[in-house]
Amino acid sequence: MQEKIVILDFGSQTTQLIGRRVRELSIYSEIIPYNKYPFGREKEEGIIGVILSGSPLSVYDKDAFRVDIAAINKAVPVLGICYGAQLMTYTMGGKVEPAPSREYGRANLSYIDETCPLFKDIEPGAQVWMSHGDTITELPAGFRRVASTADVHFAAFSAGDSMWGVQFHPEVYHSTCGMQLLKNFTVGICGASCSWSAESFIESTVRELKEKLGDDRVILGLSGGVDSSVAAVLLNRAIGTNLTCIFVDHGMLRKNEFKEVLRDYEGLGLNVIGVDASERFFTDLAGVTDPERKRKIIGADFIKVFDEEAHKITDAKWLGQGTIYPDCIESLSITGTTIKSHHNVGGLPERMNLKLCEPLRLLFKDEVRAVGRALGMPEHLITRHPFPGPGLAVRILGEVTREKVGILQEADHIFIQGLRESGLYDKVWQAGVILLSVQSVGVMGDERTYERAVALRAVTSMDAMTADWAHLPYEFLAKVSNDIINKVRGVNRVCYDISSKPPATIEWE
Ligand code: XMP
Repeated sequence: MQEKIVILDFGSQTTQLIGRRVRELSIYSEIIPYNKYPFGREKEEGIIGVILSGSPLSVYDKDAFRVDIAAINKAVPVLGICYGAQLMTYTMGGKVEPAPSREYGRANLSYIDETCPLFKDIEPGAQVWMSHGDTITELPAGFRRVASTADVHFAAFSAGDSMWGVQFHPEVYHSTCGMQLLKNFTVGICGASCSWSAESFIESTVRELKEKLGDDRVILGLSGGVDSSVAAVLLNRAIGTNLTCIFVDHGMLRKNEFKEVLRDYEGLGLNVIGVDASERFFTDLAGVTDPERKRKIIGADFIKVFDEEAHKITDAKWLGQGTIYPDCIESLSITGTTIKSHHNVGGLPERMNLKLCEPLRLLFKDEVRAVGRALGMPEHLITRHPFPGPGLAVRILGEVTREKVGILQEADHIFIQGLRESGLYDKVWQAGVILLSVQSVGVMGDERTYERAVALRAVTSMDAMTADWAHLPYEFLAKVSNDIINKVRGVNRVCYDISSKPPATIEWE
C-alpha cells in the first residue's frame, strides 16, 4: 500500500499548494474534502499523517466546516494550518476571536521552543507568512505554545505528542522555513519514507495498468501537449500496440506542427494515426466570427472526427486521457458542496461506450514533466508551451480562413523560433501571435501598403489563472518585428500586448 499524507480541504486557496509541497518532499499526498475522511481506515488506506488546510470561513461561524480531529488523531499525527489550527483549538475548549487587526503578510518567529520536533532545525527569526482575520486567544488545557511572532502569541502550538497547529502558512514560498517545517512533520513525526518519485510512479503505474487492462485495446486522443503525450508513452509502456493514438489535424495547428509532432510520436514507438481533417473544420467555420461559436464548432467537429476514427478500432474497450490531478481534485465551494471534476474531452466516453483510463490523474503538472523525462521523452515535447485546443482559430480575430491561418503560422513561427534561439522560450509560460482584424497604412519601398496588424503575446504565469506580460528585451522585440514585417506577406505592423491577466486574458478570444 502506497503510504500517503492526507490533506483535508476546508476550502483554502492554498490547499493544492500543501499537496504539492508534500510531493516535493517525495511523499505521496492526497487532497480530500474535509467531509470525506475515511475514519478508521488509515491502515488500509496507507495514511500516515493528516494536514488540515486553511479556510475562508471562521471556526465560530454557524455553518463552519468541522471534522472530528480527536478521532483522526487517535490513528495518526495531525498538523492544523491556520483554520485547521483554529479548529483544533476551538473544538477542544480554547478561544478563537476576530483579530484586533487582520494579520496578513510577512512575519518573523520571535520565539521558538527548541525542544519541539516540529521546529527542528528552524532558527528564531525565521520568516513565515500570515493570512488570517481570526486569532487564537486562549489554548485548551494541555496545549502548549511552541512559537510566537511579535503580533501572534500562539503562532504555533502542540497538544500531546501527535498534534500540532500553526497559524501561519508553511506551504507558501514566502514562509522560508515552511519546507523544513513540513519535512519535520511528515518525515520526522509521521515517519514518511520519501519513496515517491517519477521512477516509482512509473513502475507502479505500469504494473497496475497491465493488471487492469490485460489484453484490452485502448484509444487515446493526442494533442501535441505534454499531458496527453506522457499518458500515451506510459500506456504504451504497459500495453504496447494495444494502445492506438489518434492525432487530429484541424488545420489550425502551428506551422509544420502536425508533421513534426507525428514524427516525434512515431519516434517514441507509439501506434499513432494522424488524421488530416482540416477541410471539414474550415468548411464549418466559414463565415463564423463569434469566438464561442468557433470554439463550439471546433469541439463538435473534433468529437465527430475522433469518433469516426475510433469506431474503426472495433474492439476498443477503454478511452485513455491525459487528465491530471488539478483537474480531478474535488474543489470545495463555500456552501460545503463538492464540485465534480471536469475532463479534457468531455462527452466522449458517454457517446462511445468506453471506460475511462487516466494514468496521470494523481500527478501535478511538474510531476507529469518529471515522469516524461524519466520515460526518456524528448525535452522539447516536455517543455512545450500550453496551446489552446482550438489552436490558431482563437488567435485569428473574426472569421478563420486558410489564408489567414497561413499568414499567422508564418508570423508565429518567427516569434517562437526567435524565443528559442534567444534562450527565452523556457522563461515564458506561453507565447504566440494574434492576427488582428484591422488593416493599417504602411510604406514599403516607394509603395503605400494597407495590410494587417499582428500582436505578439508572451506571458509569465504559474498556472494560467493569473499572468503577467513577459518583459521581453526591446532588442529581441525589434528583431522579431523586423523579421515579421519583412518576411510575412500581408503584415505591415507588429504590436506587443502589455496586458496582464486579470483583467485581460491570455488569449484574445
Ligand atoms: P485565457 O485566455 O482564458 O487562457 O487566459 C488560459 C489558458 O487556457 C488556454 N485556453 C484554451 N485551451 N481550449 C483549450 O484547450 C480553449 O478553448 C482555450 N482557451 C484558452 C490558453 O491558451 C491559456 O493557456
